[in-house]
Amino acid sequence: MEQTASLRLLAPLDGEPWDIDGYIKHGGYEAWRQVVRDGNPDRVIDELKRSGLRGRGGAGFPTGVKWDKVVHHRLPDRYFVCNAGEHEPGTFKDRYLIQHHPHRLLEGCLIAAFTVGARESHIYLNAEFREARHSLARAMEQARVRGVLGNNVLGSGVDLELEIFDGHGSYVAGEETAMLESMQGRPAQPKAKPPFYPTDFGLHGKPTLVNNVETLSHVPSILLKGSQWFREVGPEHSPGTMLFSLSGAVNHPGVYELPLGTPLRHLIEECGGGVPSGRMVKAVFPGGPSFAMVGPEELDLPMDFDSLKKAGTGLGSAGVIVVDDATCMVAQTLALSTFFREESCGQCPSCRIGTQHLEALVAKIETGNGTHGDLEKLLQICGFVKGTGYCTLVTGAAVLVQNSLRLFRHEFEDHVVKGACPFSPTAAKPAVAIG
Ligand SMILES: Cc1cc2nc3c(=O)[nH]c(=O)nc-3n(C[C@H](O)[C@H](O)[C@H](O)COP(=O)(O)O)c2cc1C
Repeated sequence: MEQTASLRLLAPLDGEPWDIDGYIKHGGYEAWRQVVRDGNPDRVIDELKRSGLRGRGGAGFPTGVKWDKVVHHRLPDRYFVCNAGEHEPGTFKDRYLIQHHPHRLLEGCLIAAFTVGARESHIYLNAEFREARHSLARAMEQARVRGVLGNNVLGSGVDLELEIFDGHGSYVAGEETAMLESMQGRPAQPKAKPPFYPTDFGLHGKPTLVNNVETLSHVPSILLKGSQWFREVGPEHSPGTMLFSLSGAVNHPGVYELPLGTPLRHLIEECGGGVPSGRMVKAVFPGGPSFAMVGPEELDLPMDFDSLKKAGTGLGSAGVIVVDDATCMVAQTLALSTFFREESCGQCPSCRIGTQHLEALVAKIETGNGTHGDLEKLLQICGFVKGTGYCTLVTGAAVLVQNSLRLFRHEFEDHVVKGACPFSPTAAKPAVAIG
């Protein structure tokens, strides 16, 4: 369906996903071989910077710049962690990559760990991903047998171990500072940034490179085929492709690799086969539940970091959730407010209490017990809590409610006036795909 020429990550391989021979046949581990032979971290960093690769874990930070910070840190002990914590509703692309292309990720991890000179390297894997873990463990076994991982890799005298760390399975544990805390046996709670950026103060208080699964999976082919090849697709400031997790009201939900900058409409209509049962798009979350929804009139928006930010929303980790016109937007807002309340780690009072209040008020309105004053209260709470907290969870919870009230205030008011949910109970199924 998609042109294979533009694929950077999901190009078909021969045989089973963990089969190293199929991967090697298509140039697998060649970049790793070159990096080890060359032994020049600056060359790797320069190529990554030229490629313009930006982190696929949510923030879109330039990958080469991050690697540079760790490589040239004044402290000698460095660590490397691949973030495979993925637990956001509607995002499932990392587990797909791990399960179906584990060697690509392994090669990216090996290059990252070697380049920063990590004394320890881990893959923090959401423990709920059993099939992905199985695939990754088999791939690691094969890589060890073939001498690309472990002692004396590729006969170079370099020893490089990579450990799978069984992660938490909670949303906040995917935030990098919370992840590093939980890896050290402490509660998975984010730290204040600044000053606790992992590049300065990470695992055991040492400089630590943290990258997302998809980000790392891009690295081998960028080094092998060159930054220009990577930049052939996508806009100048968001080059390359991205994996879009498509869920909600579409005929064909799934993971789709598309050039960044592809219009939202193409993903929903061409890849997702449109909305089922002749229904229409009512709203779309282009970057998961933490970023504002867009309406059906905005489906020609290009999906890349800068265009979506300019449109008042964000790409996040590209978990695209489609909501159809049969859905009650108060019920939809409630389902996600419940998610935010349940996933708040409770460390920051504004988040712990704010998410509870937001959920309770939206529930009150959805069940027909709300007042017009409650709508104003909701907006007031959003104003109080937005931007507070050590991570962005509470801001996401507030943006959801503010945005829902901005686009669908009439539905909230209908609930108040009628004293009940005006939508048919069978039609009002919110689009939330968790896990
Ligand atoms: C609440 C929250 C959850 C997050 N979950 C994940 C996650 O599951 N996986 C991930 O890679 N990044 C996640 N992030 C972003 C990470 O903190 C971090 O920016 C990312 O791992 C850096 O990698 P990248 O530069 O390759 O994107 C999360 C951030 C927040 C605020």
